[in-house]
Amino acid sequence: MDVIKGLKRTHKCGELRETDAGTEAVLMGWVAKARDMGGLIFVDIRDRSGISQVVFSPENAALIEKAAELKSEYVIAVRGKVRPRESVNDKIPTGRVEVLAEELRILSKSDVPPFVIQDDVKAGEELRLKYRYLDLRRPVMQRTLETRHRITQIARGYYDENGFLEIETPVLCKSTPEGARDYLVPSRIFPGRFFALPQSPQLYKQLLMLAGMDRYFQVAKCFRDEDLRADRQPEFTQLDLEMSFVDEDDVISVNEGFLKRVFKEILNVNVQLPLPRLPYAEAMRRFGSDKPDVRFGMELVDMTDLFRDCGFTAFASVAEQPGCSVRAINAAGLAQKLTRKTLDGLVDFVKTYRAKGLAWLIVEENEIRGSIAKFFSPEELSAIAERAGAKAGDTVLFVADKDEVVFAALGALRCELAQRFGLIEPGRFELLWVTDFPLFEYSEEEGRYVAMHHPFTSPKDEDIPLLDTDPGSVRAKAYDIVLNGVELGGGSIRIFDSELQAKMFEKLGFTPEQAMERFGFLINAFRYGTPPHGGMAYGLDRMVMLMTGKESIRDVMAFPKVKDSGELMVESPGEVDEKQLAELGIGITRE
Ligand code: AMO
Ligand code: AMP
Repeated sequence: MDVIKGLKRTHKCGELRETDAGTEAVLMGWVAKARDMGGLIFVDIRDRSGISQVVFSPENAALIEKAAELKSEYVIAVRGKVRPRESVNDKIPTGRVEVLAEELRILSKSDVPPFVIQDDVKAGEELRLKYRYLDLRRPVMQRTLETRHRITQIARGYYDENGFLEIETPVLCKSTPEGARDYLVPSRIFPGRFFALPQSPQLYKQLLMLAGMDRYFQVAKCFRDEDLRADRQPEFTQLDLEMSFVDEDDVISVNEGFLKRVFKEILNVNVQLPLPRLPYAEAMRRFGSDKPDVRFGMELVDMTDLFRDCGFTAFASVAEQPGCSVRAINAAGLAQKLTRKTLDGLVDFVKTYRAKGLAWLIVEENEIRGSIAKFFSPEELSAIAERAGAKAGDTVLFVADKDEVVFAALGALRCELAQRFGLIEPGRFELLWVTDFPLFEYSEEEGRYVAMHHPFTSPKDEDIPLLDTDPGSVRAKAYDIVLNGVELGGGSIRIFDSELQAKMFEKLGFTPEQAMERFGFLINAFRYGTPPHGGMAYGLDRMVMLMTGKESIRDVMAFPKVKDSGELMVESPGEVDEKQLAELGIGITRE
């Protein structure tokens, strides 16, 4: 490039230190700020590594005239002498020196940016995403993507050291059964046929084990056409792995080694191994969730037996029904804060989880009062408070319903209270495994059992006989890794016996013909010598989000999608030519 001819960058903008004083430096970067201080012009120059101060002195008239032109986001090259600074700025690593400019080149000018490029940005997310390339200039975004890069590199290094081969699997594939909607890609050669973008590399990685690769790893793009949330994107990245000749303990232990390393290297947090393991049933019973946040208490307490034959009919009738329960959490010490208005708000909150209501008892020194107190004798109230472990100053919150509703409502309520009342110690990381998931879950919508993880997950050996008699109670060799109440990853030991796999498909309601049509290649492959195998996948975006303390995975992706699954910067999805459609044999029917 002509404009930088003869000039070679000597330092990044964040690199200059006191020891560089007296030397010549050439910096290149963006103008973060230019201030005319009556004669002297000070310019902050920024690149990914940080910021340096450049000074233009009025002694050089041509130079200062040029410097006066500088505006935010101009790209410049500056050559000059490094010298100690008069007023030291200890907030930045370069704050003890400045560059006294001797040469300035404007490499590129900038329009006035739609928002000021700084960490404390005022612009809303939509504007930032429309101009994502400017948003990504903000130091916080650059640090986040750097952390993401480092986590990926640590994973690559760790799994490589442990004998995993990084192998790429296709992006144009056939529908994989992860349970979300597929993104489809029409075939030009076979009109009316479609590729599906992978929801995960699940089938391919199992085939790689069949192929004798022994251990596989991939940083894999996955695509799921599902509704977006703060921790969900239609296009996201997994750290995906699979291992041969292993059981659950082997997969867990290799992965604990990775988690220990990544937490140490990224956050200097010492993870104690082995991590706690919580069977699914216990996680639900104690936390009302299969991804429990164990950074705070407020565990669920079963009160069903106390409410049988009680005077409050809403609870008494629930307590009689199988699969239903009355449970409570004790909001310890929160009685003052849980005002009537707040409690009414919490009633609406639990209703979004399909609970019929939320009842409360407020424990005071000499009295227990609250929305359901009038139905009980003082002795009964004392027994209820005692079961909940409640003392004066506590409020006990109850939900009576089907177990699944009670768990969902109270599980979410305890997290909501912890958030709202600051019960979570900042900077704390609680990792744990949830194990022994049910193999199936019943889908009311489809009127059949569906695989809770995916159809290749192995049942526990001792539960295989229950497949015919009581499928709902069969447990799987499946495990999730949970961090601070978020499902960070999950996996399982796979079925490697074709007969058991056939039975699994049957239980999931596939006819042998349907199973063959969808998964024939896997069923056939299993006939040629299958090693026992299993693995898991981490959601990389979620991992980065939690480790960098971000609220949304959009903040840790360079170019995320927004609510309606589009991207604001390139304005995708876009329309295509009639010609392209014709080639694909596609006609659009618009309502
Ligand atoms: P699973 O479907 O549990 O398992 O996905 C693994 C992990 O991927 C992350 N994840 C997502 N992250 C962002 N946006 C999404 N839409 C999204 N969906 C999932 C989660 C999740 O824990 N093939 C199996 C793994 C295996 O059995 O080996 C699988 O994909 O963090
Ligand atoms: P009611 O007598 O119907 O006004 O209910 C008294 C209190 O119990 C109110 O605070 C309701 O919100 C609450 N409540 C009613 N049904 C349930 C339920 N199934 N679970 C929890 N609380 C309930």
